[in-house]
Amino acid sequence: MTNNNMYFIANWKMHGNAKYIERTKVVKKLLRLKKYKNHKIIYCPPFTLLKEFCDNVKKSNLYIGAQDCHPDADFGPFTGSVNTKLIRSTGAKYVIVGHSEKRKDGDNNNLINKKIKSALSENLKVIFCVGEKLKEKRKKLTYKILKRQINEGLRKIKQNENIILAYEPVWSIGTGKIPKISELRININYIRKILKNSNKSKKIKIIYGGSVNPKNIKQLTEINEIKGFIIGGASLSSKKFIDIIKKSIN
Ligand code: PGA
Repeated sequence: MTNNNMYFIANWKMHGNAKYIERTKVVKKLLRLKKYKNHKIIYCPPFTLLKEFCDNVKKSNLYIGAQDCHPDADFGPFTGSVNTKLIRSTGAKYVIVGHSEKRKDGDNNNLINKKIKSALSENLKVIFCVGEKLKEKRKKLTYKILKRQINEGLRKIKQNENIILAYEPVWSIGTGKIPKISELRININYIRKILKNSNKSKKIKIIYGGSVNPKNIKQLTEINEIKGFIIGGASLSSKKFIDIIKKSIN
């Protein structure tokens, strides 16, 4: 299977320093090959590195994103916060919203909805994360949780072409575990159904995140509806990241 227009999002979480820019070089080189030109590689380093990364990827087809944003697009007295205007001013084009590590810190669906609106108002593209916890999966609440996260997170949002939906089962993040392929396919189809029911279907691409690595990537690409991956731990190694990209593409 040849996959076109895939997303590969490197979520570096709280890792990295300016020297890590070196790690993007090999990926940049790979992207010069025709075969990889139609795919989007997005690095999401910590806020402090956004500007340096953006300056460094100019004239390449690598993109940069932030890992979170404040819900207010306007400037204001919010010590320690970074809003979408500030993100935009670094040259970043994407922002991750609703990651489970932020939900754990208190981000609820309502706040996430505000963050998404703020990002779209600044012309940032949004990587909107949803996913159930292990406890919820065991209680067979996955569908209910996904439906609520998606419907409340996307409430009153019409600009769907700038949203990518990342399905990240919380129990899979950083654990080395991925869902059974049959189960993942069912959940992805369910997500598509929720989007369809709210008329947001076609424009929103669905990607997967949670312990993606060079060993499991082949299995994950068996699901056609998955248009890319958000990669945490493995993306810190350019060797593993490249391996994932290469194995996904054919
Ligand atoms: P992981 O993280 O690949 O290390 O599981 C994915 C994520 O949190 O986005």
